[in-house]
Amino acid sequence: MEPAVAEIVRVLRGSRKYGALCTETLERVARWAALRQRTPRAAARAARSKLHQVYGAYLASGHWRVLERVQAEMEAVALPVGTAPSQADEIRDCARRVLSLHASTSERLAFQEQLYPRLLRGLRPAHGALRVLDLACGLHPFALPWMGLPVGSEYVAWDIDLRLVAAINRFLDLLGQRGRAEARDLLCGPRALERSERGKRGERAADDPQVYREADLVLILKTLPCLERQERDAGVRLLSGLRAQRVVVSYPARSLGGREKGMVATYDRQVHGLAEILGAQVERLEYPTETFHLFTWP
Ligand SMILES: C[S@@+](CC[C@H](N)C(=O)[O-])C[C@H]1O[C@@H](n2cnc3c(N)ncnc32)[C@H](O)[C@@H]1O
Repeated sequence: MEPAVAEIVRVLRGSRKYGALCTETLERVARWAALRQRTPRAAARAARSKLHQVYGAYLASGHWRVLERVQAEMEAVALPVGTAPSQADEIRDCARRVLSLHASTSERLAFQEQLYPRLLRGLRPAHGALRVLDLACGLHPFALPWMGLPVGSEYVAWDIDLRLVAAINRFLDLLGQRGRAEARDLLCGPRALERSERGKRGERAADDPQVYREADLVLILKTLPCLERQERDAGVRLLSGLRAQRVVVSYPARSLGGREKGMVATYDRQVHGLAEILGAQVERLEYPTETFHLFTWP
């Protein structure tokens, strides 16, 4: 790592707000800032403000303490013999409290019982089990008890926050769920440049070790606007690097501040453009707080 970039990463790593983000992300943003600022101080400031744009609205510090407490509570639950952890009322209550810690997942609580059967409908599981990839997952894996995945399914979740990754792995262990959470930045990769060129041409990559994953279902929930703020055309590049039976992309129906601003129509236009570039068919699913788009390929 170049010394100027290493210095910015060191400063970010020491900050309470961004210190737990994965190295890939800190390096990527530090490199971006170092290229644009003359002094290390100005670069560190620019990096922090960039991170605030993309990450600042995620969990506040008090929420991490609640998450830790609720996880400890879940782990102390004595399960009646023969009860699967995901079916136990106490564990579901705790998972619901975790999901309510952030607007993205909290807003879904009202309709999650109906949502997952619709997202899974028609998927053809190999050997009866599904492979699910949840990108930029946030707290969403805590909804696993409501997803109704077939037994033996694998759930892989990626996010840039190491605390989230650790918390999700604890939860997967508790449920006995196959899969894992990993610290991955969707905008990083050894072949990012090549991928970006391919993405612009609308090709779907089959050989990209960083982003390409075989999965039955890929979830990219309420995340594309955040990725697009970090890098133009991030959406088309990301989707073109996936190979899956179904990719679900969702958008909020209003901003975190509660304003509508014609967001649904804007995002619908983006989805239409994405589908055209990627040669996908799209099914639209609308709930009051979130619109889901199910991409499939003929
Ligand atoms: C609005 S939240 C959505 C969380 C979740 N998908 C949901 O809908 O419940 C956005 C998430 O994207 C993650 N994120 C932001 N930039 C990312 C990147 N470049 N790579 C991977 N994850 C990222 C954040 O850490 C945060 O958890």
